[in-house]
Amino acid sequence: MKSVLDFKARKGKGRISMSTAYAHWEARFLAASPVDCVLVGDSVATVVDGEATTFAATPEIIARHTAAVARGLAGTKFLIADFPYLAARKGTTSAVECATLLMRAGAHAVKIEGIDGHEDVVRHLVQSGVPVISHLGLTPQSVNALGGYKVQGKTETAAADLLRQARATEAAGASGLVIECIPSEVAREITGALSIPVIGIGAGPHTDGQVLVFHDMLGLNPGFTAKFVRPFADGNKTVTSGLSSFAEAVANGTFPSKKESY
Ligand code: KIV
Repeated sequence: MKSVLDFKARKGKGRISMSTAYAHWEARFLAASPVDCVLVGDSVATVVDGEATTFAATPEIIARHTAAVARGLAGTKFLIADFPYLAARKGTTSAVECATLLMRAGAHAVKIEGIDGHEDVVRHLVQSGVPVISHLGLTPQSVNALGGYKVQGKTETAAADLLRQARATEAAGASGLVIECIPSEVAREITGALSIPVIGIGAGPHTDGQVLVFHDMLGLNPGFTAKFVRPFADGNKTVTSGLSSFAEAVANGTFPSKKESY
């Protein structure tokens, strides 16, 4: 999958896999993998920089990581870059400036959290030739308003409101939607109601695809567990054991060997 057109064409034709990436080396692994598409998430702030929230990510930070990832992917995958904290809320001109940075860095689309109050921004970007993926449900940039990292859409009213917002994203021209931490049945209804791909994270099995954070997916995030994450590799164990072996080999003088020396 190399473009937003490939992405949209997959609706109803096989589930889409998406991984985050922040660095060139991660992108090189992804380029050689069957994972369909890649997101440079503002989760870079928490996963890479150790921040408590995603607020510290800026357009410049996302653009820098997008450029590194784009070089690693070398055109092999559809690449989405996140609009960071409040970047869609400062008016159309500011949003265009953010999109310019991200698209020039190599993104093929941008992802924007929420829809209410910035439908016009999404519409303007789409009309300007910038594909937009929306993001609803547990939107980490609104963690304070949501009262924490909690499952959203649990009541009938909240579920109906999520469906309304999902329809609004499609009406504004979004090419896809990420829904985070919502009940499976709500995700099923939203997925069925939209003609654009709906990608879930903590949203159950009925969406058009799944996204996970690279480090969570590979068990590379020590101490982090969430119900919706399945570690598909034991990265923590591999890294810990590799580091111990290196230190031991240095301490006992077996590294470097003659073969590893000039
Ligand atoms: O920033 C991010 O990594 C995300 C995904 C978790 C969807 O938005």
